[in-house]
Amino acid sequence: MGGNVLVGHIGQWPVGRYHKAHHHGAGAVLFILKSKGYTLIWPNEVGTHPYQAGREDAVVKIDWRPGGAFSPPSGWFHQHFNLGPEPARQLAFRYGSRINRIGFWEAGYRRDEGVMISTREGGTLIDYEDEDPEIRRQYEQALKGEGIECQMPPVDSPQAAVRVAIVQEYGDKKARQEDDGL
Ligand SMILES: [Fe+2]
Repeated sequence: MGGNVLVGHIGQWPVGRYHKAHHHGAGAVLFILKSKGYTLIWPNEVGTHPYQAGREDAVVKIDWRPGGAFSPPSGWFHQHFNLGPEPARQLAFRYGSRINRIGFWEAGYRRDEGVMISTREGGTLIDYEDEDPEIRRQYEQALKGEGIECQMPPVDSPQAAVRVAIVQEYGDKKARQEDDGL
């Protein structure tokens, strides 16, 4: 998006997998390029465990396939789930060009930094081990309906326990570097 105020990126993730939930300001528009699936969105005021809190009425499910587009509202958690037999691919646009900055670019950038930080550390990203168990249960059930095996690591695995220990000892940034093999 050179010379414009928008910035774009393409996200892709594998068969049988879903993203971590996070929230940020409004303005990101997502276009589905490949695969099919759904996205759960809910207001962050409801908390990280909407089902356990008895607030499943606040969770909105958006079914998508190629050609679909949607935009998560400001401050709503959103979490993307691949149900197709191929990697899912999304094209995302939002304000934030570093070349032609618009008025609230700086504020937006600072706010969006929390997107990479666990809710446990004051950010807006829900790690798998911290999410509402109903979210994974629903996904596994939906995958079964598609005849696709779930590829998510178990949240009670030894790796997950090690990750929690790293976050507690060294912080979220270190855990993420480990995730990326750095
Ligand atoms: Fe997002």
